[in-house]
Amino acid sequence: MTQQDSEIVVLTGAGISAESGLATFRSTDGLWNNHKVEDVATVEAFQRNPEYVHEFYNEMKPELLQAKPNPAHLCLTKLQQAFPGKVNIITQNIDTLHEKAGSTNVWHIHGQINQAVCLNCGHILETWSDVTTETVCPRCEIAGMMKPNIVFFGENLLYMDKVDRLLNRCGLFISVGTSGVVFPAAAFVQIAKQAGAETCEFNLERTSNNFYFDRHFFGPAGTTLPRFVDELIAARK
Ligand code: APR
Repeated sequence: MTQQDSEIVVLTGAGISAESGLATFRSTDGLWNNHKVEDVATVEAFQRNPEYVHEFYNEMKPELLQAKPNPAHLCLTKLQQAFPGKVNIITQNIDTLHEKAGSTNVWHIHGQINQAVCLNCGHILETWSDVTTETVCPRCEIAGMMKPNIVFFGENLLYMDKVDRLLNRCGLFISVGTSGVVFPAAAFVQIAKQAGAETCEFNLERTSNNFYFDRHFFGPAGTTLPRFVDELIAARK
């Protein structure tokens, strides 16, 4: 398979949604500056105080529901339409801005804000409404067993078999708006590179992963990514 028609994998992080007005995690005013990970994003936190953890994610919902995709999300949809079936988006984000931009093949490895999972039967409840310790599972009808379908630190990521296959067969790996400090997502670039992919990073600054990237595009993704996508489409057509 030539580079021309190889598959493309895009890994996105909170930075791609920054220009849609959503907070990132590790910036000066980031989410982890206002809440402790160990209070809202670990299995122990949920076991210790499920009401507080539910409240943290419920409070996030209105803003994420209202948020609009920005040019960085929209250009990835354009890329998917230019190369049908060849472009997969692996996102660490729990927002649904890729879907709102019209993208498909979006793999939420850290889960989604508009889903809850039943710890009794595994049912996935899609809802933008509040989920609490009183919420009844629509399938098994047990109350109090619903957990936000967010992957907490210490839990296994979602879709990892699919991700592994995608990384090992792509010809181009693009990382957008992630600090590259949370594993295993931070190691995806190494897997893609070892499999022979060209690797490109889109960020405001060099990240701790920059050694593994062949090319760097510094600046707001809403500006740098659409330009890159247009050039890629022109070059491959
Ligand atoms: N354009 C491009 N990059 C941007 C922009 C922008 N407009 N704004 C911010 N960034 C970059 C920042 O420079 C930073 O490198 O986005 C990155 C955001 O990093 P984090 O806040 O660490 O978010 P992320 O990498 O997605 O975190 C990964 O950590 O806490 C967990 O589950 C959480 O999914 C999250 C994971």
